[in-house]
Amino acid sequence: MAADRPDLRRQQWSAGSYDTHARFVSELSAGVVDWLAPRPGERILDVGCGDGVLTAELRDMGADIVGVDSSEDFIAAAQARGLDARIMDGEDLRFGPEFDAVFSNAALHWMPQADAVASGICRALKPHGRFVAEFGGHGNVAAIVTAMRAIGIRRGGDLALANPWFFPTPQVYQALLERHGFSVKRIALIPRPVVLKTGIEGWLMLFRKPFFAQFGDSEQQALAETVDLLRPALCDAQGNWTADYVRLRVEAVKS
Ligand code: BEZ
Repeated sequence: MAADRPDLRRQQWSAGSYDTHARFVSELSAGVVDWLAPRPGERILDVGCGDGVLTAELRDMGADIVGVDSSEDFIAAAQARGLDARIMDGEDLRFGPEFDAVFSNAALHWMPQADAVASGICRALKPHGRFVAEFGGHGNVAAIVTAMRAIGIRRGGDLALANPWFFPTPQVYQALLERHGFSVKRIALIPRPVVLKTGIEGWLMLFRKPFFAQFGDSEQQALAETVDLLRPALCDAQGNWTADYVRLRVEAVKS
Protein backbone atom coordinates (compact mmCIF):
# COMPACT_ATOMS: atom_id res chain seq x y z
CA MET A 1 0.00 0.00 0.00
CA ALA A 2 1.53 3.34 -1.05
CA ALA A 3 2.04 5.67 1.89
CA ASP A 4 -0.04 8.46 0.28
CA ARG A 5 -3.09 6.28 -0.44
CA PRO A 6 -5.61 5.47 2.31
CA ASP A 7 -6.26 1.75 2.93
CA LEU A 8 -9.85 1.45 1.65
CA ARG A 9 -10.35 -1.86 3.48
CA ARG A 10 -9.53 -0.53 6.90
CA GLN A 11 -12.32 0.76 9.11
CA GLN A 12 -11.34 4.10 10.67
CA TRP A 13 -13.07 4.94 13.94
CA SER A 14 -13.90 8.36 15.31
CA ALA A 15 -15.16 8.40 18.90
CA GLY A 16 -17.11 11.64 18.19
CA SER A 17 -18.93 10.29 15.15
CA TYR A 18 -19.65 7.01 16.92
CA ASP A 19 -21.20 8.93 19.81
CA THR A 20 -23.47 10.83 17.37
CA HIS A 21 -24.63 7.96 15.16
CA ALA A 22 -24.24 4.78 17.22
CA ARG A 23 -24.74 5.53 20.92
CA PHE A 24 -27.67 3.05 20.82
CA VAL A 25 -25.07 0.24 20.65
CA SER A 26 -24.08 0.58 24.30
CA GLU A 27 -27.62 1.64 25.29
CA LEU A 28 -29.04 -1.69 24.04
CA SER A 29 -26.62 -3.84 26.01
CA ALA A 30 -28.78 -4.67 29.06
CA GLY A 31 -29.51 -8.25 27.92
CA VAL A 32 -25.91 -9.29 27.44
CA VAL A 33 -24.85 -7.59 30.69
CA ASP A 34 -27.56 -9.66 32.43
CA TRP A 35 -26.01 -12.81 30.97
CA LEU A 36 -22.57 -11.68 32.18
CA ALA A 37 -23.90 -10.92 35.69
CA PRO A 38 -20.58 -9.41 36.85
CA ARG A 39 -19.73 -9.87 40.51
CA PRO A 40 -17.80 -7.25 42.49
CA GLY A 41 -14.04 -7.86 42.35
CA GLU A 42 -14.18 -10.15 39.32
CA ARG A 43 -11.40 -9.55 36.82
CA ILE A 44 -13.03 -9.07 33.41
CA LEU A 45 -11.63 -8.44 29.93
CA ASP A 46 -13.78 -6.39 27.52
CA VAL A 47 -12.77 -7.23 23.93
CA GLY A 48 -13.49 -4.40 21.48
CA CYS A 49 -14.35 -1.95 24.26
CA GLY A 50 -14.78 0.99 21.85
CA ASP A 51 -15.04 4.33 23.61
CA GLY A 52 -15.49 2.61 26.97
CA VAL A 53 -19.04 3.72 27.85
CA LEU A 54 -20.19 0.18 28.60
CA THR A 55 -16.81 -0.83 30.08
CA ALA A 56 -17.19 2.02 32.59
CA GLU A 57 -20.65 0.73 33.53
CA LEU A 58 -19.16 -2.70 34.29
CA ARG A 59 -16.42 -1.06 36.37
CA ASP A 60 -19.10 0.90 38.25
CA MET A 61 -20.80 -2.45 39.01
CA GLY A 62 -17.60 -3.44 40.85
CA ALA A 63 -15.64 -5.33 38.19
CA ASP A 64 -11.88 -5.03 37.92
CA ILE A 65 -11.98 -4.48 34.19
CA VAL A 66 -9.49 -4.17 31.34
CA GLY A 67 -10.68 -2.94 27.94
CA VAL A 68 -8.90 -3.58 24.65
CA ASP A 69 -9.54 -2.17 21.20
CA SER A 70 -7.47 -1.73 18.05
CA SER A 71 -8.57 1.89 17.54
CA GLU A 72 -6.32 4.57 19.05
CA ASP A 73 -9.18 7.08 19.00
CA PHE A 74 -11.47 4.76 20.96
CA ILE A 75 -8.75 3.84 23.47
CA ALA A 76 -8.01 7.52 24.10
CA ALA A 77 -11.74 8.09 24.78
CA ALA A 78 -11.87 5.03 27.09
CA GLN A 79 -8.76 6.14 29.01
CA ALA A 80 -10.32 9.57 29.44
CA ARG A 81 -13.05 7.77 31.42
CA GLY A 82 -10.34 6.55 33.80
CA LEU A 83 -10.37 3.00 32.46
CA ASP A 84 -7.50 0.55 32.12
CA ALA A 85 -7.84 0.52 28.33
CA ARG A 86 -5.14 -0.79 26.01
CA ILE A 87 -4.58 -0.86 22.27
CA MET A 88 -4.74 -4.51 21.28
CA ASP A 89 -6.18 -6.36 18.30
CA GLY A 90 -8.93 -8.82 19.28
CA GLU A 91 -7.55 -11.22 16.66
CA ASP A 92 -4.20 -11.17 18.46
CA LEU A 93 -4.98 -11.09 22.20
CA ARG A 94 -1.85 -11.22 24.39
CA PHE A 95 -3.11 -12.35 27.79
CA GLY A 96 -2.41 -15.41 29.90
CA PRO A 97 -5.11 -17.07 32.07
CA GLU A 98 -5.85 -14.12 34.37
CA PHE A 99 -9.54 -13.29 33.79
CA ASP A 100 -12.67 -14.63 35.49
CA ALA A 101 -14.70 -13.59 32.46
CA VAL A 102 -14.23 -12.26 28.94
CA PHE A 103 -16.98 -9.99 27.67
CA SER A 104 -17.68 -8.41 24.30
CA ASN A 105 -20.52 -6.29 22.94
CA ALA A 106 -21.03 -5.33 19.28
CA ALA A 107 -17.42 -5.92 18.34
CA LEU A 108 -16.73 -9.51 17.31
CA HIS A 109 -18.42 -9.11 13.90
CA TRP A 110 -15.50 -6.79 13.02
CA MET A 111 -13.06 -9.67 13.61
CA PRO A 112 -13.43 -12.19 10.76
CA GLN A 113 -10.51 -14.30 12.03
CA ALA A 114 -12.91 -15.84 14.52
CA ASP A 115 -10.68 -18.84 15.31
CA ALA A 116 -7.83 -16.53 16.35
CA VAL A 117 -10.26 -14.51 18.50
CA ALA A 118 -11.66 -17.60 20.24
CA SER A 119 -8.23 -19.03 20.95
CA GLY A 120 -7.01 -15.69 22.42
CA ILE A 121 -10.13 -15.49 24.61
CA CYS A 122 -9.65 -19.07 25.80
CA ARG A 123 -6.01 -18.33 26.69
CA ALA A 124 -7.04 -15.21 28.64
CA LEU A 125 -9.54 -17.09 30.84
CA LYS A 126 -8.84 -18.85 34.11
CA PRO A 127 -10.02 -22.51 34.18
CA HIS A 128 -13.85 -22.53 34.18
CA GLY A 129 -13.87 -18.81 33.31
CA ARG A 130 -16.83 -17.63 31.27
CA PHE A 131 -17.12 -15.95 27.90
CA VAL A 132 -20.21 -13.80 27.33
CA ALA A 133 -20.70 -11.86 24.12
CA GLU A 134 -23.22 -10.29 21.81
CA PHE A 135 -22.53 -9.31 18.22
CA GLY A 136 -24.06 -9.43 14.74
CA GLY A 137 -25.57 -12.81 13.89
CA HIS A 138 -26.64 -14.47 10.67
CA GLY A 139 -28.92 -12.14 8.67
CA ASN A 140 -27.64 -9.00 10.41
CA VAL A 141 -28.08 -5.83 8.30
CA ALA A 142 -29.04 -8.08 5.36
CA ALA A 143 -31.05 -5.41 3.56
CA ILE A 144 -28.21 -2.89 3.96
CA VAL A 145 -25.59 -5.33 2.64
CA THR A 146 -27.84 -6.31 -0.30
CA ALA A 147 -28.40 -2.67 -1.27
CA MET A 148 -24.65 -1.91 -1.17
CA ARG A 149 -23.91 -5.02 -3.25
CA ALA A 150 -26.50 -3.91 -5.82
CA ILE A 151 -24.81 -0.50 -6.10
CA GLY A 152 -21.39 -2.19 -6.24
CA ILE A 153 -22.53 -4.33 -9.15
CA ARG A 154 -24.12 -1.34 -10.91
CA ARG A 155 -20.93 0.72 -10.55
CA GLY A 156 -18.33 -2.04 -10.98
CA GLY A 157 -17.07 -1.75 -7.39
CA ASP A 158 -15.39 -4.20 -5.01
CA LEU A 159 -18.27 -6.19 -3.47
CA ALA A 160 -16.10 -7.44 -0.61
CA LEU A 161 -16.15 -3.87 0.73
CA ALA A 162 -19.94 -4.14 1.14
CA ASN A 163 -19.70 -6.96 3.67
CA PRO A 164 -16.45 -7.24 5.66
CA TRP A 165 -18.23 -8.70 8.70
CA PHE A 166 -18.54 -12.05 10.47
CA PHE A 167 -22.23 -12.83 11.14
CA PRO A 168 -22.38 -16.55 12.04
CA THR A 169 -25.37 -18.76 12.76
CA PRO A 170 -25.62 -20.14 16.33
CA GLN A 171 -24.71 -23.60 14.98
CA VAL A 172 -21.51 -22.39 13.31
CA TYR A 173 -20.44 -20.30 16.31
CA GLN A 174 -21.16 -23.04 18.85
CA ALA A 175 -19.07 -25.51 16.82
CA LEU A 176 -16.24 -22.96 16.61
CA LEU A 177 -16.24 -22.38 20.37
CA GLU A 178 -16.31 -26.11 21.07
CA ARG A 179 -13.26 -26.58 18.82
CA HIS A 180 -11.44 -24.12 21.10
CA GLY A 181 -12.29 -25.92 24.32
CA PHE A 182 -15.46 -24.11 25.37
CA SER A 183 -18.69 -25.62 26.55
CA VAL A 184 -21.63 -23.51 25.34
CA LYS A 185 -24.25 -22.93 28.05
CA ARG A 186 -26.69 -20.88 25.97
CA ILE A 187 -26.70 -19.25 22.54
CA ALA A 188 -29.47 -17.39 20.72
CA LEU A 189 -30.17 -15.37 17.58
CA ILE A 190 -32.16 -12.26 18.52
CA PRO A 191 -33.86 -9.99 15.94
CA ARG A 192 -33.19 -6.40 17.05
CA PRO A 193 -34.67 -3.74 14.73
CA VAL A 194 -33.03 -0.45 15.74
CA VAL A 195 -34.48 2.98 15.00
CA LEU A 196 -31.67 5.17 13.65
CA LYS A 197 -32.29 8.55 15.24
CA THR A 198 -29.80 10.24 12.87
CA GLY A 199 -30.98 8.41 9.74
CA ILE A 200 -29.38 5.90 7.40
CA GLU A 201 -26.77 8.13 5.73
CA GLY A 202 -24.87 8.71 8.95
CA TRP A 203 -24.94 4.97 9.68
CA LEU A 204 -23.65 4.08 6.21
CA MET A 205 -20.83 6.64 6.33
CA LEU A 206 -19.85 5.69 9.89
CA PHE A 207 -19.78 1.95 9.31
CA ARG A 208 -19.09 1.48 5.59
CA LYS A 209 -17.11 4.55 4.49
CA PRO A 210 -14.56 2.31 2.69
CA PHE A 211 -17.30 0.93 0.41
CA PHE A 212 -18.40 4.42 -0.69
CA ALA A 213 -14.88 5.90 -0.80
CA GLN A 214 -13.92 3.42 -3.53
CA PHE A 215 -16.10 5.41 -5.95
CA GLY A 216 -13.96 8.54 -5.59
CA ASP A 217 -15.75 11.62 -6.95
CA SER A 218 -18.97 9.58 -7.23
CA GLU A 219 -18.98 8.69 -3.51
CA GLN A 220 -22.00 10.87 -2.70
CA GLN A 221 -23.90 9.62 -5.75
CA ALA A 222 -23.30 5.99 -4.75
CA LEU A 223 -24.47 6.84 -1.23
CA ALA A 224 -27.67 8.49 -2.54
CA GLU A 225 -28.42 5.48 -4.76
CA THR A 226 -27.96 3.09 -1.82
CA VAL A 227 -30.31 5.19 0.32
CA ASP A 228 -32.91 5.14 -2.49
CA LEU A 229 -32.73 1.34 -2.71
CA LEU A 230 -33.13 0.98 1.05
CA ARG A 231 -36.00 3.44 1.50
CA PRO A 232 -38.90 1.01 0.77
CA ALA A 233 -37.48 -1.62 3.16
CA LEU A 234 -36.18 0.46 6.08
CA CYS A 235 -37.90 3.87 6.06
CA ASP A 236 -41.47 4.38 7.31
CA ALA A 237 -44.05 6.90 6.09
CA GLN A 238 -42.88 9.43 8.69
CA GLY A 239 -39.28 9.24 7.44
CA ASN A 240 -37.94 7.16 10.36
CA TRP A 241 -35.19 4.69 9.47
CA THR A 242 -34.85 1.30 11.15
CA ALA A 243 -31.75 -0.88 10.74
CA ASP A 244 -32.37 -4.63 10.39
CA TYR A 245 -30.08 -5.76 13.20
CA VAL A 246 -29.92 -9.41 14.33
CA ARG A 247 -27.76 -10.22 17.37
CA LEU A 248 -26.04 -13.44 18.33
CA ARG A 249 -25.76 -13.75 22.12
CA VAL A 250 -23.66 -16.46 23.74
CA GLU A 251 -22.48 -17.68 27.12
CA ALA A 252 -19.76 -20.33 27.17
CA VAL A 253 -17.41 -21.72 29.78
CA LYS A 254 -13.77 -22.72 29.39
CA SER A 255 -13.87 -26.44 30.04
C1 BEZ B 1 -23.77 -4.27 14.37
O1 BEZ B 1 -23.62 -3.76 15.48
O2 BEZ B 1 -24.46 -5.26 14.18
C2 BEZ B 1 -23.11 -3.67 13.21
C3 BEZ B 1 -22.60 -2.41 13.28
C4 BEZ B 1 -21.98 -1.90 12.19
C5 BEZ B 1 -21.89 -2.60 11.04
C6 BEZ B 1 -22.41 -3.84 10.98
C7 BEZ B 1 -23.03 -4.38 12.06
